[in-house]
Amino acid sequence: MNKTVKKLRIAFFDAKDYDRNSFLEANASEEFEITYLDARLSTDTYKLAEGYDAVCVFVNDEVNAEVIDRLAAMGVRLIALRCAGYNNVDIEYAYGKIHVVRVPAYSPYAVAEHAMALLLTSIRRIHKAYIRTRDFNFSLNGLTGFDLHGKTVGVIGTGKIGRIFIDICRGFGMHVIAYDKFPAANSGIEYVGLDELWERSDIISLHCPLTDENRHMIGADTIARMKKGVVIINTSRGALIDSEALLEGIKQRQVGAACLDVYEEEADVFFHDYSGHIVNDDTLARLISMPNVIVTSHQAFLTKEALANIADTTLDNVRLFFENDTCPNEICYKCANLSTCKQTHEKKCF
Ligand code: NAI
Repeated sequence: MNKTVKKLRIAFFDAKDYDRNSFLEANASEEFEITYLDARLSTDTYKLAEGYDAVCVFVNDEVNAEVIDRLAAMGVRLIALRCAGYNNVDIEYAYGKIHVVRVPAYSPYAVAEHAMALLLTSIRRIHKAYIRTRDFNFSLNGLTGFDLHGKTVGVIGTGKIGRIFIDICRGFGMHVIAYDKFPAANSGIEYVGLDELWERSDIISLHCPLTDENRHMIGADTIARMKKGVVIINTSRGALIDSEALLEGIKQRQVGAACLDVYEEEADVFFHDYSGHIVNDDTLARLISMPNVIVTSHQAFLTKEALANIADTTLDNVRLFFENDTCPNEICYKCANLSTCKQTHEKKCF
């Protein structure tokens, strides 16, 4: 007699066309039943996950204590993040209630290369030149840039992405200094304290996770200590920078340029088309209006290679969790903060 195997059901929140395409391909055998939802996960939308085994979420879904309680009460057993950062998940609260997995790396090259693309675009005024020549304006006035060769770049966070960015910068003949809370031994990287990094860097690029401790690490005080004309690149998480202080620094000509792929209030704006609307966020609108600010909407990860890796790893995470009882990409409060977890990546954390 044929036994019907029940497929694992995944409620896929905040689904975009590119997500659907890559997950449809990764799930071509229809091993999983995936429901693609336009809504973001929040206290208003969690009910959409009723009857599902797992939810799949991205950077701007709200996975707070209430959402965690509701999901757990409805029998959802797994939160599968299709990204690396997890500052939008209350992992301390989730511990013991619902498991959380992520995709720790999908293409660090995608993000590091985007950071360099933003930097080059900004300092060589490519965004201006592109618009000019499309209008047959071939004037060079106002397009003077500067050489990267010989400049000092301060890299904060020397993990997977930070190190690739360092290699790219070295290829340009730049001098690299770095700060990391946990410096890598024998890496050949010149680590300095944050104070020294602020003072010496011509360019500063953020590649560390957002935590309670480093929220607004770039603010009025730190901007005042930076070199006049510093270029700040953020492809990490928006709230590492106090946006209003950044805006003020730009207005005062202390900050020479800002390249932002992330923004602290991005959840309400990024990934949506507001071209026919009036955006209510005055700080963002003012930043975008500046000639020396480039904003992309959390796009650094968006390459074909990264999307395929994200889909494959997310579905592997779900399969391993439910079928093999292993959980190699689990994140839990104890692993992340206390180093007291029994996490061996062969067993679930609780
Ligand atoms: P990773 O975990 O390999 O490296 C992070 C590094 O930051 C580690 O070396 C760690 O020791 C260091 N670190 C931790 N806390 C720190 C602190 N308070 N100050 C300084 N350094 C600290 O992570 P990976 O893959 O390199 O990603 C870095 C960040 O990039 C992620 O946390 C995420 O926020 C962001 N990201 C952005 C994407 C985008 O599309 N814009 C895509 C993927 C990641």
